[in-house]
Amino acid sequence: MRIFREIGADADAGAQPAEEIAQLRANLAGVKSIIAVASAKGGTGKSSIVVNLAAALALEGRKVAILDADLNSPTIVAMLGMKVPRRFHSMDGIEPSAGPLGLRVAASNLIAGGEPPPMSFLEDEPVPAISSNGHGPFELSYSATLRRLLTQTRFGMLDLLLIDLAPGIDQLLRIARIAPLSGALIVTQPSEISVRASSAALEMASMCSTRVMGLIENMVGFNCDGCHSVRPLMPHGDLAAVAKTAGIPVLGRLPFDPRLAECCDRGVIFVREYADTPLARQLTALAQSLDLSSPNPIQAEMPPA
Ligand SMILES: Nc1ncnc2c1ncn2[C@@H]1O[C@H](COP(=O)(O)OP(=O)(O)OP(=O)(O)O)[C@@H](O)[C@H]1O
Ligand SMILES: [Mg+2]
Repeated sequence: MRIFREIGADADAGAQPAEEIAQLRANLAGVKSIIAVASAKGGTGKSSIVVNLAAALALEGRKVAILDADLNSPTIVAMLGMKVPRRFHSMDGIEPSAGPLGLRVAASNLIAGGEPPPMSFLEDEPVPAISSNGHGPFELSYSATLRRLLTQTRFGMLDLLLIDLAPGIDQLLRIARIAPLSGALIVTQPSEISVRASSAALEMASMCSTRVMGLIENMVGFNCDGCHSVRPLMPHGDLAAVAKTAGIPVLGRLPFDPRLAECCDRGVIFVREYADTPLARQLTALAQSLDLSSPNPIQAEMPPA
């Protein structure tokens, strides 16, 4: 049995040994599509959307896993209402935890035990595994830990691996250097500031080889159940113009519904619990519209079976 500290302690963030690359390829060979969900700004709704897209696809019989790549503030486990195991057990790899609807989940708080995880993940310069006084939280390299999660978690055969990123488009650039992504989704909000940040993010994303599959505009308005109108929550920036300039589609414009926040807090699946609401219907339609046919680059290289 290995403990998480050992995984981080021997992780050299700078180098990616050939052996590790081979392991990553073998580990993800059964995953048809790998999609990362990113945002320029925090709190746009990435994690809630990831959980509900995954659930909507699982409800249709798809095999889906989620990697919570927000190592310092993992939320997927709580949003799915899963229990955090007390400690990490593994002989030769990490078994993803079983969530509702057959979803498989890998997250820093699952392997470390406890919430929040008793460690912090720092930037990529080599850092000591234990802070200088020997008593502080473990300090592990962020990229090296992500790489270890991807190479050691036995995802098995999947239609889709959804990766929930921490905020900031640098996170997309980081994961694109580690994982063979099929594509990325960028979640934004209607405000002018959020739209401007997303525009800059798209420019940065175009510098990495990852295909941005589309933008999702979240919290565009409040659905009034009484009068069936949609009232805007905030002044709108012109996301359509940004999308047009970048040549990237807006895949969804999702309304605000407090029941989604409530479900996330309670660990209940919104698209199942409130399936008949406009937001749940849109999330389900969005999940169904995702292009899962573009294989992850590892699968793309493999000869047809
Ligand atoms: N359309 C929506 N309607 C109502 N509440 C929403 C909606 N989208 C997200 N929320 C709520 O907003 C809060 C922030 O969402 P979430 O944690 O998913 O954002 P995030 O982008 O993952 O944040 P971070 O950048 O910190 O990772 C949560 O309480 C979530 O349930
Ligand atoms: Mg999040």
